[in-house]
Amino acid sequence: MGCAIIGCGKSLPALAVANDDLTQLVDTSDEWITTRTGIKSRRIAVGETNVDLAEAAARQAMGLVEGGYCEAPIEPESIDLVVYSTCTPDVLVPSCAALVRRRLGLVNAVAFDVNAACSGFIYAMSVAESMMASSALGVAGAGRRNKVRRALVIGSERLTRITNWEDRTTCVLFGDGGGAAVVEWDESRAGVLATYMKNDDDDTNALTCPSAFDSPQPFDVNGVSKEAAVAGDPGNARIDEELGVTEAVAAGRPRQSLFMHGQTIFKFAASAMGNAIDEVCKRADVDIDDVKLIVPHQANERIIKYAAKRCGLSLDRFQVSIGDRGNASSACVPMALSDAYESGRIQKGDKVILVAFGGGLTSGAVLYEV
Ligand code: ACO
Repeated sequence: MGCAIIGCGKSLPALAVANDDLTQLVDTSDEWITTRTGIKSRRIAVGETNVDLAEAAARQAMGLVEGGYCEAPIEPESIDLVVYSTCTPDVLVPSCAALVRRRLGLVNAVAFDVNAACSGFIYAMSVAESMMASSALGVAGAGRRNKVRRALVIGSERLTRITNWEDRTTCVLFGDGGGAAVVEWDESRAGVLATYMKNDDDDTNALTCPSAFDSPQPFDVNGVSKEAAVAGDPGNARIDEELGVTEAVAAGRPRQSLFMHGQTIFKFAASAMGNAIDEVCKRADVDIDDVKLIVPHQANERIIKYAAKRCGLSLDRFQVSIGDRGNASSACVPMALSDAYESGRIQKGDKVILVAFGGGLTSGAVLYEV
């Protein structure tokens, strides 16, 4: 028995922007971007919201529209849980999960967002699987928690909302998109064999987006005014210092965009993905040679090649979908998974690993049998 993936879908915004187009914004070239990253173009949401992308991907995963992969159409009322991974929500409240629940008529679902940056879909799957397993198996007493038999797990991002279009070291990498999977507890299938999640401290603050928000209304109570708080709040100053952005922000870098030390993240990523693959195989007691396909986070094709080398595997055991979409953070894994199903690379009985790394620093993997 286990938590089986029974549907999968993806959605990309309409606007495609090629490498050459980005030369209008920054000093770069198609040759540099292609050879350093494997990216040829990316999709940018100018009309679509994060939740629009998620909704379209979820409709495929649920078999409500053409595309993606779905074993049998899913009744919206049968979904008990929505776990929605994003680090670029449309709004702070309500959660993206709550919005998608309303749009799709998931009247019986509890719904919430998670943020583990690019590893988010792996974390969301792990949460959904844990909730299913504990309710189905009645861990520490049946009926003590929400019953979850079927869940919608989403990874959806508008990363270009936090992209600095004047920074050539990051803006060429990112894109937008949404992916979704439907999972269900099935007594007759193995489904998820193991999950693995790991955090490491980002000691050098190699990946941050120090967005700040504040109430726009004036505040003036007992001699403490809002203006004073915004300009000189010691808490804000301390978090800037902690994240190492004080000078960058003072020098005029927009605080709502991603700061990244590419090489530090590259080194972390190459080893973190390899470790996560090893660990999840160990937990499932599965030999890597028995795994048919690995679906990794799509940040840079060179990182995928390093991870493959580190695990002693050829690149053709990995799903590589980065070329026409770039890095769409936690949407990458479910979108690439949908590609793999659509192209027939995944068949009944196959063992598949989903693996990712991201800001935090986070990393993780899921190993399942189809
Ligand atoms: N076009 C042209 N030249 C560029 C560009 C560009 N877009 N970007 C950087 N360069 C230049 C640099 O300025 C540097 O020039 P210099 O030698 O004169 O100083 C040169 O190219 C080499 O730069 P490096 O940073 O050494 O290039 P590298 O080979 O490391 O590639 C990259 C950079 C692609 C960012 C790589 O480090 C990488 O992929 N890192 C990991 C990124 C990642 O995975 N992020 C995921 C997390 S994102 C998230 O969580 C949302």
